[in-house]
Amino acid sequence: MMLTHTKLRDKFAQFWKTKSHKEIPPIPLVPKEDPTTLFTGSGMQQLVPYLLGETHPLGKRLYNIQRGIRTQDIDEVGDNRHTTFFEMMGNWSLGDYFKKEQIVWCWDFLTKEIGLSKSNLFISVFAGTKFIPRDTESISIWKSLGTPQSKIFYYGPDKNWWSRAGIPDNMPVGEPGGITSEVFYEFTQVPHNSKFGPKCHPNCDCGRFLEICNNVFMQYKKEKDGSFSELPNKNVDFGGGLERILAAANENPDVFKIDVLFPIIQKVETLTGKKYGKKFDDTRSMRILSDHIRSAVMLAADGVIPSNKDQGYFLRRLLRRMVRFGKNLGFDKEITVNLVPIVVEIFKKVYKDLPSKQKIIQSLFETEEIKFRNTLNNAQHEVEKFLSRPFSGNKLEEKYAQLAFDLYQSMGYPVEMFIEDVRQRKINLDINKFHTLYKHTFSKHQAVSKEGADKKFKGGLADNSEKTIRYHTATHLLHQALFDVLGNQVRQEGSNITSDRLRFDFSAPKKMSGSELKKVEAIINKKIAEALDVWYKIVPKTEAYKIGARAFFKEKYPEKVKVYFVGGSISSPQTAYSKEFCGGPHVKNTKEIGLVHILKYEKIGSTLYRIYAK
Ligand code: SER
Repeated sequence: MMLTHTKLRDKFAQFWKTKSHKEIPPIPLVPKEDPTTLFTGSGMQQLVPYLLGETHPLGKRLYNIQRGIRTQDIDEVGDNRHTTFFEMMGNWSLGDYFKKEQIVWCWDFLTKEIGLSKSNLFISVFAGTKFIPRDTESISIWKSLGTPQSKIFYYGPDKNWWSRAGIPDNMPVGEPGGITSEVFYEFTQVPHNSKFGPKCHPNCDCGRFLEICNNVFMQYKKEKDGSFSELPNKNVDFGGGLERILAAANENPDVFKIDVLFPIIQKVETLTGKKYGKKFDDTRSMRILSDHIRSAVMLAADGVIPSNKDQGYFLRRLLRRMVRFGKNLGFDKEITVNLVPIVVEIFKKVYKDLPSKQKIIQSLFETEEIKFRNTLNNAQHEVEKFLSRPFSGNKLEEKYAQLAFDLYQSMGYPVEMFIEDVRQRKINLDINKFHTLYKHTFSKHQAVSKEGADKKFKGGLADNSEKTIRYHTATHLLHQALFDVLGNQVRQEGSNITSDRLRFDFSAPKKMSGSELKKVEAIINKKIAEALDVWYKIVPKTEAYKIGARAFFKEKYPEKVKVYFVGGSISSPQTAYSKEFCGGPHVKNTKEIGLVHILKYEKIGSTLYRIYAK
């Protein structure tokens, strides 16, 4: 019998509850205090301070299902398993249980609760490097569960290491990471494709094996000299892809066939008269449409609107690609209006705010869709003319780069669409060379650059350097200072901290005058000079509100929360200068912050303001 997504969610929650785990509310897709990362990309994102040693208000055993976006996968969408939007089922041990319990429970969940057949499951473990030994402990646990040696594979840090930045070399100072042990499902009905290597194995990309979950043993922290130190605790960070586990449970190697995606495909089939799975190009376009509409709806529901920057630009890209690939299917109008309701229908029981937002999302997308369809139609005429000419030789990339730039500048036709056009015509272009030349032309013309956003799409992240931590505490001071100067109508709208500066968005009834701004800066520096202690307390949510701690309205909080205080003391928290719902980390005393300067103050919306400080 088909395992549905709702049933899987229930099973997962029940399983971890019986093992004394508490559910942590998932965070929004656009994280609040994460400087360079555009979107929530993993379940552990909200847990970084706790993995680094802070105390979590709900204890040491946690679980949830977190929505995420992985922008770097956008070009991979079209095969049987890549998606930009995903849901990750996670459980965590913050210095409580470790490998033995985790591996046994992970196995029990997959084989007993979900009923996956053991014969289809394969395991990978960390092979070891010069500095970090082979994970023999996990190997013997897997063996004690009856896994034969022939089904255990060893890989290095490129596959069996996890951190938000990827491999150890790419991790910034202060970032937590660790070795992993992953479980793969083998779809025996998919033949190995020798294009991906002579022999198939769990990490082969041919589609026969699907990684369904990842046990990360978060044990290390990157140090300044590039080495790794042990974290205060040995933590577990488990992530299981909801779509992928469903695909395995239903013995279908195609994640687009499961019930969080297939109804969208079916709608596209009805609207276009095309059959899913028949022709490769049509199938690919259908997968792109169904993945992108899901991501787009979820992003819009979390408040993202199409724009030329950051998160808004990613949403815009998704919508434009839908128009583009819809056209390939002969689906030339009302794509989003038709597909948004299907996404709402699939998820309305899980994300209860979706139905009330459906209309507004539809109209937002419709406007964007119509606008882009015009651009596309005009540009494609030009592209057609150009690409049908036989060019060759070493000037090909240069010619194409100039055309792509011209199309962008005159019609706003995005370069990635141009690359897609080239790809579709199977023209042999050196994409790296093309990109270099395109960028060169771009900067020569000093056009408004979307490059920054593109770079971020590769997935940057928050670092936990001392500087970032200092700016984090300074942000709390700034928040309170704004209340002091502007009164109680100030509302935090966002915060973004890097090791270079802090950025704080807030709404207020009026713009501050120059002298008010000076006052804000003076208050912050006064509080820094007063050398106030920074400390926290874990309290029930109701109590936190009672003592006047400032919460972030866009976030859902669990029953117990952590409140950070600047000044005051445990016996008289009321006298603290600032009180805020926050996970940390922070400096211990404000004197560690040093002098703060407000660099810029600007209006970014009708009642929305932004401050940069350093
Ligand atoms: N953080 C790990 C991942 O995202 C496990 O949850 O794969």
